This record gives sequence, structure tokens and C-alpha cells, in this order.
Amino acid sequence: MKIIKYGYFIRAIPSLILAMASLHAVAADVDWGGVEAKTVKVFYPGQSSWEFLRSKDHGRGASVVKKMNKTCADCHVGKDGGYDIKADEIISGTKQKSESKKSFEPQPITGATGFKDVTVQTAYDKENIYLRFQWQGSGASVTDPSIATDNKADRIALQISNNIGSFKNYGCYITCHDDQDDMPENRSTEVTLYGYYTRDKDRNVKDQGTLDGFLSKGQFIDLLEASFVGNEIKTKDMHVLDKRSDDNNDLTAAGGFENDTYTVVITRKLSTGDKNDITLADGATFSLGIAIHDNKNHGRRHYTSFPVSIGLSTAADINARKF
Ligand code: HEC
Repeated sequence: MKIIKYGYFIRAIPSLILAMASLHAVAADVDWGGVEAKTVKVFYPGQSSWEFLRSKDHGRGASVVKKMNKTCADCHVGKDGGYDIKADEIISGTKQKSESKKSFEPQPITGATGFKDVTVQTAYDKENIYLRFQWQGSGASVTDPSIATDNKADRIALQISNNIGSFKNYGCYITCHDDQDDMPENRSTEVTLYGYYTRDKDRNVKDQGTLDGFLSKGQFIDLLEASFVGNEIKTKDMHVLDKRSDDNNDLTAAGGFENDTYTVVITRKLSTGDKNDITLADGATFSLGIAIHDNKNHGRRHYTSFPVSIGLSTAADINARKF
């Protein structure tokens, strides 16, 4: 009996190998040449928190963000696609907040531009989503992988959500707060990214039952990261609710750095089976916020995007190509 089973197993191996090989072939073989490429601008925000956006320092913007009836892009992106945001002055440390007169960036990054263009392409098949990004940068952690150990790797982080109205309008900004690390009201205890709706009006974390409710309704933010460490690309799978937490790593990434340009393709199953991952499917739309760290700048000192929508065969800012 045992021998028969063993024999069966041996005979099954070639087809198993074939099946596995074809799975990998799909990931490697996405023909990106035929996939729509969109440019998403990222800009350097300095200490522009959720609280700033709802304060007098945000001028006419404050009451609108409080009422949540217009998006960031409605006010800051012109019909021609031009950005009306003073990111060059923020990164160089010369821009002050209009009411408090505090600098947007107390630790300026000299010589850096306030904006970067990120080329975004997306595709999916029955099993996976493929997210491809290209942008220009320093290559610092490719040249010197040792800086990655200080959490200073050049990297891209993606916030993804499909069930939070304020994230659709305001993206990552709903997770950025004045009491976080390296922000103006941090009291030296570690505070990582969190959704504003997980706190009460005194900034205390809401009770576990309420947080569990948000999680079960999909009202959390999936966080996917790819870091360049020498010639390797390392991934981290996280989510943000009342804090940033690590998940099962369900991500793979491929890419490199050439001609001053990073390229990365992040691959993930549409449905990973992890309750801490947003489940995607044919016909779904989700919102994406992009963050880019470059040239040893770490923590909050990164570029950010306004949110863009991605459609899996639905109308959106960026249409994922179905294979
Ligand atoms: C109702 C229109 C409106 C909306 C919506 C809005 N803003 Fe603003 N924003 C403004 C105005 C007006 C200013 C200038 C305020 C001042 O200096 O007093 C400003 C200033 C800023 C600044 C400071 C740099 C600069 O160029 O003055 C940042 C950063 C910023 N907004 C980010 C955002 C983000 C992020 C969002 C979405 C979460 C957003 N804004 C939504 C109108 C808006």
C-alpha cells in the first residue's frame, strides 16, 4: 500500500513542478509595455499632520477638511495637473505655517526638490495583483546597504484602503499626527501611524471592542513596503489601525536601480486570507497613497501623494490591466 502511494507521488512530481513554474511565469511575464502608465506626483509635506489640516494654519482648507466635503486634490491640483503646494519651500525649510509661524520643516533637506514623479502601472490576474512603480532617487541604500540597518533604506510604502471614506479623500494624511515620533507634540514615547478615528477627543485609544469592529468591517489601512538593500529588495507587510503593526508577510517584490531610477513590482494575492490585509477582487476599487523615502532620510521625512483610486475593471484614476 505504502509503495503504491509513494509511486503515485513520484509520478505527480513533474506536473507539480510544471504547475509551480507556470505560477512564477505569470508574475515575471506581465508585459508592462502594454499596461497603461500614469504619473502620480509625490511631494514633501514636512510636519503637515491631520491636526494641521484642520487648524487655522491651513487657512481656507481647514473648515473644508473638517467637514470632509472636498478632496486635497480639489484645492491643490489644477485642471492642467499642476500642483499648487509649496513643497520646494517646505523641504528647504523656508515655508512657515500661516497662523502659528512655525516652520513646516525644522530639519530641512538641503538641495532636494519638493516633488518627485512616480510612474504607476497596475495589473491583476485570477490570483494576484501586481503593482509597478518607477521614480528617480539617490540610490543611497543600493550603493551602501549598511545604512538599511538604521532604517534608512530607500523605499516605497503603499497605504491601501477600500472602506474608509476619509481615506478616499485624504489618503495617508488621516494616519499622520502631531503626537507621533518626530512630530511637534511627541512626548518621547513611541507613537506610530494611526487612523484618527481610533482615538477619542482626548487622543486616548478607543476600547478593544471598537477597534475589533473597525478591523472586521475592513476599516483599517493595509501597508505594503519594499526597501532597496544593496541589490536586494526586502518587503514588509503591515497594517495601520490604532498603531502600525506587522502582519504575515504576503508580499514579494522584484526590481532594481538603474539610470538614477528605481523600479519595483510588488506582487500579492488578491485575497491572502489574512484578516489584516485588504481583500481585493475583480470589480473592486481601492484607494492608494504612496510614500517615498530617499537618501538616508527616515521616519516622517518622506514624500507623500494625495490618494489615487485603482480599479480592477471598474472606472478609476488608474485602471489595473486584467490578464
Ligand atoms: C478647501 C481647499 C483645500 C483643501 C480641501 C485642502 N487644502 Fe491644503 N491648503 C489650502 C489653502 C488655502 C492653503 C494655504 C493656507 C495658508 O497658508 O493659510 C493650503 C495649504 C496647504 C499646505 C501648506 C503648503 C502650501 O502650499 O501652502 C499643505 C501641505 C496642504 N495644504 C496640504 C493639504 C492636504 C494634504 C490636503 C488634503 C488632506 C489639503 N491640503 C486639503 C486649501 C485646501
